[in-house]
Parts: sequence; C-alpha cells; structure tokens
Amino acid sequence: MSTPPAPPGPAGPASTPPEVPRGAFITLEGIDGAGKSSHLPAIQAWLQERGATVVATREPGGTPLAETLRELVLHQPMDALTEALLVFAARRDHVQQVIVPALAQGAWVLCDRFTDASFAYQGGGRGFDLPLLQTLETWVQQGPPVLQPDLTLWFDAPAALAAARRAAVRAPDRFEAQDAVFFERVRAGYAARAAAAPQRFVRLEAACSRDEVWAQVAAALQARFGAAGLPATGARLGPAR
Ligand SMILES: Nc1ncnc2c1ncn2[C@@H]1O[C@H](COP(=O)(O)OP(=O)(O)OP(=O)(O)O)[C@@H](O)[C@H]1O
Ligand SMILES: [Mg+2]
Repeated sequence: MSTPPAPPGPAGPASTPPEVPRGAFITLEGIDGAGKSSHLPAIQAWLQERGATVVATREPGGTPLAETLRELVLHQPMDALTEALLVFAARRDHVQQVIVPALAQGAWVLCDRFTDASFAYQGGGRGFDLPLLQTLETWVQQGPPVLQPDLTLWFDAPAALAAARRAAVRAPDRFEAQDAVFFERVRAGYAARAAAAPQRFVRLEAACSRDEVWAQVAAALQARFGAAGLPATGARLGPAR
C-alpha cells in the first residue's frame, strides 16, 4: 500500500520569516571605509530569505560602460565638473540598463552608493552648486518624478575612524587619498541629504562593532519591510527617456 500524501500543513516551520512584498530600491551610503560593502551580502541574504529576488549592484558602476567610467573617475586626474558629469553619465547608463528594468520586474535593487553620494562628494566634498547637481539628478533619474530610493541606509562614521579602517586593507584611490577635512565635508553633505529626506534615510551609528552595526541594519529592514505593506515600486516608474 502506497503512503498517502502528507496533508497540507502550515506554510512552513515557525522560524521561516514572513515574505517581503515585491520590489523596492535600497541604497547604502556613507564615506569610504564606513562599512557599506561589508554589510551588503547580509542585507541581500535577509531579503532573499524572505522570498525577494535581489539585484545587488554599485555606483559608480553596475554596467560595463559605467564600470569603465568608474575606473576613470577613481584613478584619472580631472576637474570637479568633469568628475560630476562622468559620475552622472555612469548613473544614467546604470539607471536605464539595470535599476529601472529590475524594479519594473518586481526585483529588489540593493545599490552600494547612489545619488546621495554625488551630493555628498561632489557637493559637500568638492563644494559644487547644489542646483547643478539637482538638475543632473532630474535628467538622469528620468524625472519628473525623479527615481529615488525607497530606503537609504546611511553608515555614519567619523572620518578618522573610516580612514583607519580602509588604510588597514587597501591603497587609496583619488577620493580615499583626500584628508579628514574633505571626508568631514562629505559626511556633512550626507547629513544635509538625510535632513532633507528623513522618511527615506536611516542613519546607522557605524562607529561600533560589525555585530552592533548589523543589529541596527536588521532593525531598520524589519521596521520598513518586516510587515507587508510596501507598494510595488515598478508601477510608478515611467518609461526610460
Ligand atoms: N564595524 C566595523 N568595525 C571594524 N571594522 C569594520 C567595520 N565595518 C567594516 N570594517 C572594515 O573596514 C574596512 C572598510 O569597510 P567597507 O569596505 O565595508 O567600507 P565601505 O563603506 O564599503 O568603503 P568604500 O566606500 O571605500 O567602498 C573593511 O576592511 C572592513 O572589514
Ligand atoms: Mg565599499
């Protein structure tokens, strides 16, 4: 006699996390060495464990063209306007080729840096006019309405601490070679962006152990996405221009 099929049981073991709703855009921000990239895989895993399809990417970069522009921006001498234009050119390609299509398909996009970095580095660090950056943001992010992240996790650490962390592991690129005064201006640029969009930003105290930072990240994810309710973002994105 064959064994009857098991009766339908509960959705899964009690420890299975609830599913997250479809598609949102999450960015990681903060000065070089704050800890963004260290936490990206765990954030990706947190979302995937809840059933999300995740596209993990980075800026500048995320497409072959944008990665080529990244190499130039990080390693070639250039003036501040050239730098800003190249970063936004890379972003344009990335938004069109990767971010908008992924969100439209219901995937989650997890991006290591996005436009807040331009405001922090080119605006705060290099002293650029904010209206110019806002114009580029509107052009490149297909506005109006301008594509913005649903959640920005800002890893905030003092410049001296971040410098010590990165000095322990790598040779500096053009940005990392800047002094602590530059990075404190960048940090202030992030603070200004966070103050202007408090519903989007979560500031994480990054000057503590990895475990303590992760606890803050997990709490932020749980607060935003732990319960159902986030609308799909794909529907509000217009066609690429
Ligand atoms: N909370 C922490 N405590 C101690 N060291 C850390 C912590 N978080 C990250 N680190 C270490 O600091 C270094 C820089 O971290 P990470 O590469 O994640 O920074 P990042 O923000 O991605 O920097 P960048 O913008 O330059 O890519 C790494 O060697 C990482 O292992
Ligand atoms: Mg990194």
